[in-house]
Amino acid sequence: MQLTIIGTGYVGLVAAVCFAKLGHFVTAVDREHVIHGLRENKLSLWEPDLQEMLESCRREGRLFFDTDITHASRGADALMIAVGTPSGTNGHTDLSQVDEVIAQLKQGDGVCPPLIIVKSTVPVGTCDELEANLLTAGLHTEVVFNPEFLRQGSAINDFMNPDRIVFGCRSHLAKAALHQMYKGINAPIQVCDRRSAELIKYASNAFLAMKISFANMIADVCEGYGADNRQVMQGVGADRRIGPHFLQAGIGYGGSCFSKDLQSLLTSGNAIGRSLPLLEATAQINEERIPQLLEKLISLWGNPRGKRLGVLGISFKPNTNDMRDAPFLTLLRLCYLYGIEVQTFDPVVQTTSIEGVIQMDTAYEVATDADALIIMTEWPQFAELDWVLMAQLMYQPILLDGRNVLSEETISRLLLVENVIYIPVGRPLERTNLATSSHL
Ligand code: UGA
Repeated sequence: MQLTIIGTGYVGLVAAVCFAKLGHFVTAVDREHVIHGLRENKLSLWEPDLQEMLESCRREGRLFFDTDITHASRGADALMIAVGTPSGTNGHTDLSQVDEVIAQLKQGDGVCPPLIIVKSTVPVGTCDELEANLLTAGLHTEVVFNPEFLRQGSAINDFMNPDRIVFGCRSHLAKAALHQMYKGINAPIQVCDRRSAELIKYASNAFLAMKISFANMIADVCEGYGADNRQVMQGVGADRRIGPHFLQAGIGYGGSCFSKDLQSLLTSGNAIGRSLPLLEATAQINEERIPQLLEKLISLWGNPRGKRLGVLGISFKPNTNDMRDAPFLTLLRLCYLYGIEVQTFDPVVQTTSIEGVIQMDTAYEVATDADALIIMTEWPQFAELDWVLMAQLMYQPILLDGRNVLSEETISRLLLVENVIYIPVGRPLERTNLATSSHL
């Protein structure tokens, strides 16, 4: 098939590369400066395997780039919209980038593929409106909704091995085209109406966010009563009706999707007079995570002003350089207010552009002379550091393990270091050697 994909962010670029890998001929469209970089095989996002796949698809002649929607759409079997839909004003979703694509199609001298596939996350009813809008320009095209469920950091693998593929469409023709597009991917396919498909995307992200906030809420209870949230969630998640995933307590969720989609769903609920309290609680629990964790350090320090905090990992999760809605940014704002100095190390993010951050080249440099360290993302290499040395390099050896990264063995060794304090999330305080710390 000939596919045109508008937008080369995470979803658009990964889809372009993967559909090309599946044997289709794909033209990805974006703004001049973005396409300029892509034509030179330069990626602004860091995602495992993406670079290699991009280069091989281009070598094999199945992936092209363009800046002109009309030009790229000529002869295409389908056009996919994968542009950003960020939060707008008053909690509404900003659909301006989607509207811009539709406007360009309407001005395109009748050049419009028979199928428009919306992959961007859009509020319920949007596809109906887009289709009606195209009709006003005499464009009889079906708009379908085909949500994407990939996670950053494992995007290619998630795209190629999804748990399900959802098609929200009206006609058998659209359904047949979508089946052809995804031929080669082995996953259950759910065909439904467009509005349900649009809501599946929001409800899925809201449910995942809710699971995380639930785990974080229970982690607080664990801390209060000396239970271990990892054990608790293992027991809870072993129930197949609940499932073991997304129950990892820590610093709270970040990223460009969960907060934005939760907000959009809340706004949609309010528009029909529903308050959706589960979502409100989910967001509130998440917003309290970073202030709560920082409070633990401040209660140990006494006066936080002038303290030096080392931070390991600053993106919103490992295997990405994406800083959108990263919990680190909340931490940084609070540190600024309290007069705490921040020094960081991240395996892939360059922080030079973030004001008030001292960027180090290694984790050991971050530990040096720090008054505390916090692990914000669970990069596997953080668990492998020489934690005894890390503690010895610190001015005050306080480690807040925001993702419970350290193994039992490492913790046991670490606790032998004089005055060390190890603060896990949602686990008994007996595991720290607070009793031996004297100089705090
Ligand atoms: C999320 C969804 O998982 C995808 O299915 C969806 O396609 C995507 O949003 C989207 O709408 O585009 P993503 O934000 O890339 O994917 O990453 P996740 O793996 O979901 O992680 C989100 C946040 O939750 C991260 O900050 C992560 O550290 C945190 N998290 C995740 C936890 O704190 N605990 C967990 O158990 C799992």
